[in-house]
Amino acid sequence: MFFEMSKVIDNIKVCDNYFLLRIYNPRINFDFFPGQFLEIKISKSCNAFFKRPFAIFDLERDSFSVLYHVIGEGTKALTDYKSGDLLEILYPLGNYYPFEKAYSYDNIFIVVGGIGFASVYFLIKRLLKVSGKKVFVILGFKTKKDVFCLQFISDLKKIYSNLEFIVATDDGTLGMSGNVIDVFNEISKDLDNIIIFSCGPKKMLQNLSKNIAMSSKNICCYASFETIMGCGIGICNGCSIKIRNNDTYLFKKVCQDGPIFNLRDVLWD
Ligand SMILES: Cc1cc2nc3c(=O)[nH]c(=O)nc-3n(C[C@H](O)[C@H](O)[C@H](O)COP(=O)(O)OP(=O)(O)OC[C@H]3O[C@@H](n4cnc5c(N)ncnc54)[C@H](O)[C@@H]3O)c2cc1C
Ligand code: FES
Repeated sequence: MFFEMSKVIDNIKVCDNYFLLRIYNPRINFDFFPGQFLEIKISKSCNAFFKRPFAIFDLERDSFSVLYHVIGEGTKALTDYKSGDLLEILYPLGNYYPFEKAYSYDNIFIVVGGIGFASVYFLIKRLLKVSGKKVFVILGFKTKKDVFCLQFISDLKKIYSNLEFIVATDDGTLGMSGNVIDVFNEISKDLDNIIIFSCGPKKMLQNLSKNIAMSSKNICCYASFETIMGCGIGICNGCSIKIRNNDTYLFKKVCQDGPIFNLRDVLWD
């Protein structure tokens, strides 16, 4: 884990309330894995005490990027950072999507809700490059105006013929009508031996978890949990979730033991 001041390359508005921040990667020989995250101290125009967690969206030779949704004080202040500014970052944090497990499954799905896309983009690229299998990506949004990532996924499709993607909106204003779980059920109805990698709102993950539990198919799912975090480094217990442990449960910290968990192990209250 490194704690460094890193230089902002650029911080570009992708569309309303979504920005792509690129930062020089001071450690070009260090291996990052899909699903890991970093903590950013946002001090410009903001008094936030805690750093804010963001998934590593993408990695290039000498830079990495963060795709973020502006929802509050910290993310709003983050938009003020310009090329050449310095950001205090702590990275890489957490475990990663166990992408190597994809080799043992016949069908690979990525099921995403909203900004969850930021957590899986790097994973999608890695799976497309190394799995040699078709990667089916289902992207869900409330409505058309929330669809911020079409350009990123369309650009990948131009490079990788093994990518299939589908956009769904709850209100049917773009792509398929319905939520990502209905769409997944429809597309996978004749398939078995499936691995899913997922990230999205808690409610979506909870429904996905129920869906898998009720299925008679061989499905496993690893999901990234974007809980609200305090310290981000295992001290405050603010990010704990309940994980099955034989007939009982134990608490695991999303920041340290996660953010990726096997969905079958997670207990929901
Ligand atoms: C491991 C991890 C990876 C993440 N990756 C990304 C990413 O790549 N891109 C991205 O845009 N966001 C990501 N997030 C969420 C991001 O950390 C929060 O959106 C951010 O911290 C909000 O900061 P803020 O100061 O703008 O909001 P605040 O002012 O702190 O909060 C504004 C409102 O948003 C709510 N809120 C805050 N954090 C979250 C959250 N995690 N989930 C739901 N509601 C929240 C608050 O309760 C409040 O109502 C990630 C979170 C985690 C834990
Ligand atoms: S955020 Fe403090 S323990 Fe995880």
